[in-house]
Order: sequence, then structure tokens, then C-alpha cells
Amino acid sequence: MAGPAAASTGSQTGEGQKREGWSSRTAFVLAAVGAAVGLGNIWRFPTLAGENGGGAFVLFYIGCVALIGLPLVLSEVLIGRHGRSDAYGSAAKLAEDSGRSRAWGVFGGISILSAFLILTFYSVVAGWVIYYIGVMGSDFLGALFSGNPLAGALASENPQDIMARMTALFADVPLLLGMHTVFMLITIWIVARGVTDGIEKAATYMMPTFFVLLVLITVYSAFTGEFSQALTFLFTPDFSKLTPAIMNAALGQALFSMSLGSAALITYGSYVSKDTNLPPTTVMIGFADTTVAIIAGLMIFPIVFAVNLDVAAGPTLVFQSLPIAFHTMPGGSLVGLLFFILIFFAALTSSISLLEAVVAWAKTQLGWSRSFASWLIGGLIFLIGIACALSFNMWADVRLLSFWPLFADSNIFDTIDGVTGKIMLPVAAFLTAIFIGWRADKQVVAAETNLTGGMLVLWRFLIAWFAPIGVGAILLFGLFPQLLPGG
Ligand code: PFF
Repeated sequence: MAGPAAASTGSQTGEGQKREGWSSRTAFVLAAVGAAVGLGNIWRFPTLAGENGGGAFVLFYIGCVALIGLPLVLSEVLIGRHGRSDAYGSAAKLAEDSGRSRAWGVFGGISILSAFLILTFYSVVAGWVIYYIGVMGSDFLGALFSGNPLAGALASENPQDIMARMTALFADVPLLLGMHTVFMLITIWIVARGVTDGIEKAATYMMPTFFVLLVLITVYSAFTGEFSQALTFLFTPDFSKLTPAIMNAALGQALFSMSLGSAALITYGSYVSKDTNLPPTTVMIGFADTTVAIIAGLMIFPIVFAVNLDVAAGPTLVFQSLPIAFHTMPGGSLVGLLFFILIFFAALTSSISLLEAVVAWAKTQLGWSRSFASWLIGGLIFLIGIACALSFNMWADVRLLSFWPLFADSNIFDTIDGVTGKIMLPVAAFLTAIFIGWRADKQVVAAETNLTGGMLVLWRFLIAWFAPIGVGAILLFGLFPQLLPGG
């Protein structure tokens, strides 16, 4: 096992070996915020808000976070902290301590499988980020050495050439696979080093840097872009735009963005010391995640409006539209580089949590060493990720689930994204809510939360009624879109 388990919070395992743990509450918060804040906030949230008309989507999203997301974050972290095991083992332990069947561990198992699958495509998108760091980095160095550090990005290219970069990247199999490989190697290397020496250290360096960059670029964007237009777009709701399909998308995005139903928070919760007060800590995680998503909108849309780009460009918004915007803006070369470094940090702290969720399971349930588990599981994820990368070129026409109307038109990348987002995360989150709301021992759960009085009643209501119904609805309408009026 890599890394000394010197953490003050480490607990004894059955074998008398110290279990790994965070060295402080701050370390946990940084790692958990790092897990939550990722491509979901900076790439997917603005994409979805742009495609779905802005304000009404954003408000509904915030409602989902507050009423369904936060109660679930607390539930997942407490399951981990009580069980002191991987997501499967922790869920089974709480079930056992509640006099229920260990079979409840199944939702932990589904979550672990989700984490495994999500990382296969997540790493491919993170690979695009690395490519753009390379492009912007060499562009900035060129500008610097030619004595013009405040040049616009890619000054020698025209907008068509800049657009064409993404298409060219998608067609370039060795380059796509190379970037995916680099990203997976970094993720595996950090996870193999262990909780304190790897995960915690990475989060402690990267998250503060991330926040500084986020503020700097947002201020830049507010001054150089169309800030008020962005504010109006993001915060003036037109509720006639809020179709059931869009609500469904908002709820699914809330789960993905807060890393719910995918074992990461249960696993990170299992390293939290018994004296940490969970409710304020979990609210902080949810609050930070949502704030970053909204700030990402305020960072990206003023720029998009300033150069009259299409807000509904879809998944290419960040990769194709923004470089064109940086092209025309003062200092765009430098800001573009910083922007992609920011996304890289966000993606890496999330991918670490995805791999850790699976590695913790292999360590505990299969008895593998941390480094063996990290390299083997990371290697498998890497291999499946190759199929996701090939979805943009050689295997664009491969349909894994062609018999299923929902996925009949989806390439491998979209199929894995869809099956996890539309089915597996909601199933795991639904079962978590039912388990905590109805089956787990009320005293044990209340003691773990430290909640009393009205707050306990409120949380119990949300987790027992509101969350299962809300999440159940995503699941139902995700699987049977034809049930949605107008969907
Ligand atoms: N929450 C991450 C994001 O918004 O990018 C993605 C993610 C990380 C999902 C960890 C699930 C997870 F367990």
C-alpha cells in the first residue's frame, strides 16, 4: 500500500491495519469539492444552460440541488463514515447495523460500476483539454517571445482555422488516444500514491489554484465581455421554456455534478473522522459545486455574447467557440491558456475520485494492494476509454445498444454517458434515498448527522419523500421519454 496511513483520522480495520483517512477536515472538503467540481460544471452546465434557454433551466437546477442534491450528499457521506469501507461495504454495513439485509449493498455496487464507466469517457474529454493546453501554451509562448504577450489567441489563424482544430483533433486517432493516455496515467499515478500522499495533496494544490483562476478569468470576462447580457440570460427565467424534458436534464445534471450515485462521496466519506460535523461540511460541498457552475456560466457567456457566438452550440461550446472568442480579445492568448489549465485541474480532481471509488472497493473486497488495484483498474478503464475516443472517428457508427430505442442512435461514448447518467446514477440515488429514508436505523442515522429538531425533520422529509419522487421521475422519464407530455 502506497503512502503511510499516518492520518490522525485513520481507524483500525479488522486486520489491525490502520485504515487510510484525511489528515484534516479541510483536506476532506477540498478533496470532496474537487470531486464535485469538474467537467460537469465548466463544460456540461454551460452547454446545457445554453441549449435549454438559460434562466428557467438554471433556477430549476438550483431547486434540484437544494431539495434533492444536498440531502443526498449528506446521506452518502454518512453512509461512508459509518461503514468505514468502500461504497458497497459501507452500505452493507449500515444495513447490517440496522438489522436489514446486506443485500442493500447493491446500490453501492451499482455506484462503483458507474464510477468505473463514467471515467472511461470522462478521460477522453479531459484529453481534449490537455490538447488545448498544448495549443494555447505554445501560442502564448510564441506571443511572449515575439514581444506581444497580450496578443489575442492564435493570432495567425482565422476563425475557420480555429474551428477546424476540433474537427481535426477528432479525426486524429493517435493524438486523441495519446491525450487520453496522458490523462489516465496522471490519474492512476495520484490514486496509487494513496489518500493522504496522493488524493489529498493533489486537491490541496489544485483546488485553491482553481479558485484563483476562476475568479481572475471571470473578472476579465466581466470587463471585456457582455456581462449584463450574460446575467440576463442566466437569471431571467422564462418558465414557458421549462418543459419536462428540460427538468429531467436539470435533475440528471445535478446528480452528475454533485457526484451523486457514483460512489465517490461514500468513499471519501469513509475517510472522514468521527468528530467532523457533517451537515455544514456537506452543505459547503453542494454550495461550492453550484456556485462554480454558475460562475462558470458568468465566465463563459459574456465572452460568447461579446463575439456573437451561438449559446446553444452544444458540447463544442467550450472547445470550439471559446478559442474563437479568445482570438479577438486582448490578452486572449494568455487567458485562453489559463482557462484550459483551470478546466484541467477541475477534471483531474474529479477523475481521481472516480478511480478511487473503484480502487477502494478492490482493496477492501478483493484484498488487492492499492497500487496493483490502481494500475489494473485504471488500465481497464483506459482500454474501454479507447472505444469512447474511437466513437469520434473509426467507430462513429458502432451502436452498442441498437435494439434499445433510447440508445439506438448513440455511439459508444454517448451510450456509456447515457446509460450512466440516465439510468445508473438515478437508480443508485433512488435506492440511497429509499434506504436512508425508510430502511436504515433512524437512531444510527440521526447520530451520524448530528441533526436535531426541525432540521432533522426537514432532512428526513426530503430524503424519504422528496428525493425518491424527484429522482424516480428522472429515471422514469429518462427511460420512457414518450411519457413526457411534449417530450
Ligand atoms: N462531478 C463531476 C463533474 O461535475 O465533472 C463528475 C463526477 C465525479 C461524477 C465523480 C461522479 C463522480 F463520482
